[in-house]
Amino acid sequence: MTRIFSGIKPTGNLTLGNYLGALRRWVQVDQHQADALFSVVDLHALTIEHDPARVRALSRRTAALMLAAGLDPALCTVFVQSHVDEHARLSYLLECVATDGELRRMIQYKEKSARARAAGESVRFSLLSYPVLMTADILAYRTDEVPVGEDQTQHVELTRDLAVRFNQRYGETFTVPKATAPPVAARVMDLQDPTSKMGKSHEAGAGIVYLLDDVDVVRKKIMRAVTDSGREVTYDREARPGVANLLEILAACRDGDPAVLAGAYDSYGALKKDTADAVIEVLRPLRERYAALVADPGAMDTVLREGAERARGIARPVVDAAYAAVGLVPAG
Ligand code: AMP
Ligand code: TRP
Repeated sequence: MTRIFSGIKPTGNLTLGNYLGALRRWVQVDQHQADALFSVVDLHALTIEHDPARVRALSRRTAALMLAAGLDPALCTVFVQSHVDEHARLSYLLECVATDGELRRMIQYKEKSARARAAGESVRFSLLSYPVLMTADILAYRTDEVPVGEDQTQHVELTRDLAVRFNQRYGETFTVPKATAPPVAARVMDLQDPTSKMGKSHEAGAGIVYLLDDVDVVRKKIMRAVTDSGREVTYDREARPGVANLLEILAACRDGDPAVLAGAYDSYGALKKDTADAVIEVLRPLRERYAALVADPGAMDTVLREGAERARGIARPVVDAAYAAVGLVPAG
């Protein structure tokens, strides 16, 4: 059976981008068709300055939203990364396979480190090594497919390179995974700045729809989305990024095609109204289930504990095999 692994960092409140770019497909497709593991990758939240209490709260909230979105513990494994030691344990071995040069070429590292330096902040070493930990997350489960948004494809390419290199050097140990992107809305853009990604760690702004935003807030944000000069509704990501973003969001919510949908509108206002309606409809059940989940924290703890046990059971022998392959003495 195909093995799937993916994760979300608890670095902010989940956005519509997380939902349409990742979560929705995990729920609707992946958990039904594969042996799927989905993780709140909390170790990845520590690469930048963070408040411990906030990381803890966001980790719980992220787990609750994953379940509220429809991940079903009877169908898939939901767990917190730091509960399973194998991730950090394997990461070190992979640091011995990765090179300094290839990590410095990662676009996210270049962008984030440049931003930190410009602000006079120091850059944590873990920001550079982060894609190696992500590689460990994936390889520890002999994952076949990694469903992620477009921004993560370079990291999955690195994962493939490291898996191939490790296998060549030390013998077949890891499965070489591939990234899979959703057909539409692989990259949901900020409603106020449609040339940049709608990101949960960005400063809270009018351009970001959060999954837990109230209905009228969602509507307001979408109705005030920046559109492009001109009046015609056409699907053109380059020339009309604002309109294209709305069309992609609408298409993702309604399982439609953005170019076809464009033909149905003759004004930006009508497009915005339908997009707002579609998003509100998609988020409604999610918000209701979230309220029920946070009312019973004990039940969620049980789900996460059982998820971690199952994850450990899969990862442990794989990581043990990797330790033996590189020449470390078995603990016996
Ligand atoms: P992150 O928020 O960076 O932890 O990402 C969690 C998942 O959501 C990853 O698979 C991302 O690729 C996806 N994702 C995050 N933001 C967006 C976005 N604006 N559009 C599409 N996918 C996204
Ligand atoms: N780096 C991913 C992101 O920023 C999150 C992540 C960490 C991940 N480990 C992973 C995604 C393993 C897929 C598989 O979105």
